[in-house]
Amino acid sequence: MRKKRHLLKVDGLQLRFGGLQVLDDLSLTVDEGQIVGLIGPNGAGKTSCFNCLTGIYQPQDGRVLFDGTDVSRLPTHRRARLGMGRTWQNLGVIDSLTVTENVMLAQHQRTGYSALAGMLGLAGTWLRERELRRDAAEIIDYFGLEDIADERCGSLPYGKRKTCDMAMALATDPKMLLLDEPASGLSPEEALGLVETLRELRDRLKLTILMIEHHVPLVAEVCDYVYVLNFGKLLTEGEPDEIQRHPEVIAAYLGGAAAEPEVNETDEADDTTQVLRASQSPGEPPEWPLQPAAEGGAHGAA
Ligand SMILES: Nc1ncnc2c1ncn2[C@@H]1O[C@H](COP(=O)(O)OP(=O)(O)OP(=O)(O)O)[C@@H](O)[C@H]1O
Ligand SMILES: [Mg+2]
Repeated sequence: MRKKRHLLKVDGLQLRFGGLQVLDDLSLTVDEGQIVGLIGPNGAGKTSCFNCLTGIYQPQDGRVLFDGTDVSRLPTHRRARLGMGRTWQNLGVIDSLTVTENVMLAQHQRTGYSALAGMLGLAGTWLRERELRRDAAEIIDYFGLEDIADERCGSLPYGKRKTCDMAMALATDPKMLLLDEPASGLSPEEALGLVETLRELRDRLKLTILMIEHHVPLVAEVCDYVYVLNFGKLLTEGEPDEIQRHPEVIAAYLGGAAAEPEVNETDEADDTTQVLRASQSPGEPPEWPLQPAAEGGAHGAA
């Protein structure tokens, strides 16, 4: 069997904002050709981790190796050129631009001239712009957005804008996609379509994917491996089925008492406890919660 190669290796990330310890000695690896999940309650530090990987945040300590290169000190655009593509938790599309324009804007990371120069048709750009438009059309077709290619993103439903965000990430010609909550706000049908898309990106386009996601059934369905973050630290890691039975993971999502709940039929149960109680019967692991229960689980000051 072919030995897996680490495409991404993260060593000992430390990120603080004032007294807030956002990431604490976080290490993880992503093998080439895998879909890896990064899960954890709200405020666990998942998006901050992506921001460190892509160079938006500069951690106080730690190293990021991507495709054999130490990118820890490189600016965001250099990391993108090396093959890190990203989507955003709060959408990276520009509402006033059309789908095609958004995708072409994303492509400019690899053109050597600015998007503005391309839009103004400055000397030396028109031939390349024509190529980009053709490539953009292919990507747009790939994601099934061709019917709305000339519509402004602001007028599109949320699911389509999310797909456009994904198309933009692909337009940077990445080796690895970092997806921040790709299923949030999607309908069940759209989430199902996303599973197919992610598998195809891995299997046909040979992309490696690191994905933040709260929709755990989707994570369990599509991920080869999962890391669980809690209060900026790695709580555990493993294959999806191990992870979703892990008592500490359940506790982290459902609150401290959830690991070994005392079932008392007469108690007034809050929503969190009801989720757990409803799903527990002797000998069976609790059903996996669809959403983390706690809002804004900010970390205590260090
Ligand atoms: N630029 C910043 N300045 C100060 N604090 C920050 C900054 N960015 C993130 N934080 C804090 O770091 C913690 C982790 O935030 P982060 O957005 O990474 O969490 P998350 O796991 O992505 O949560 P969610 O699931 O809600 O998206 C939070 O307490 C947040 O307020
Ligand atoms: Mg986040």
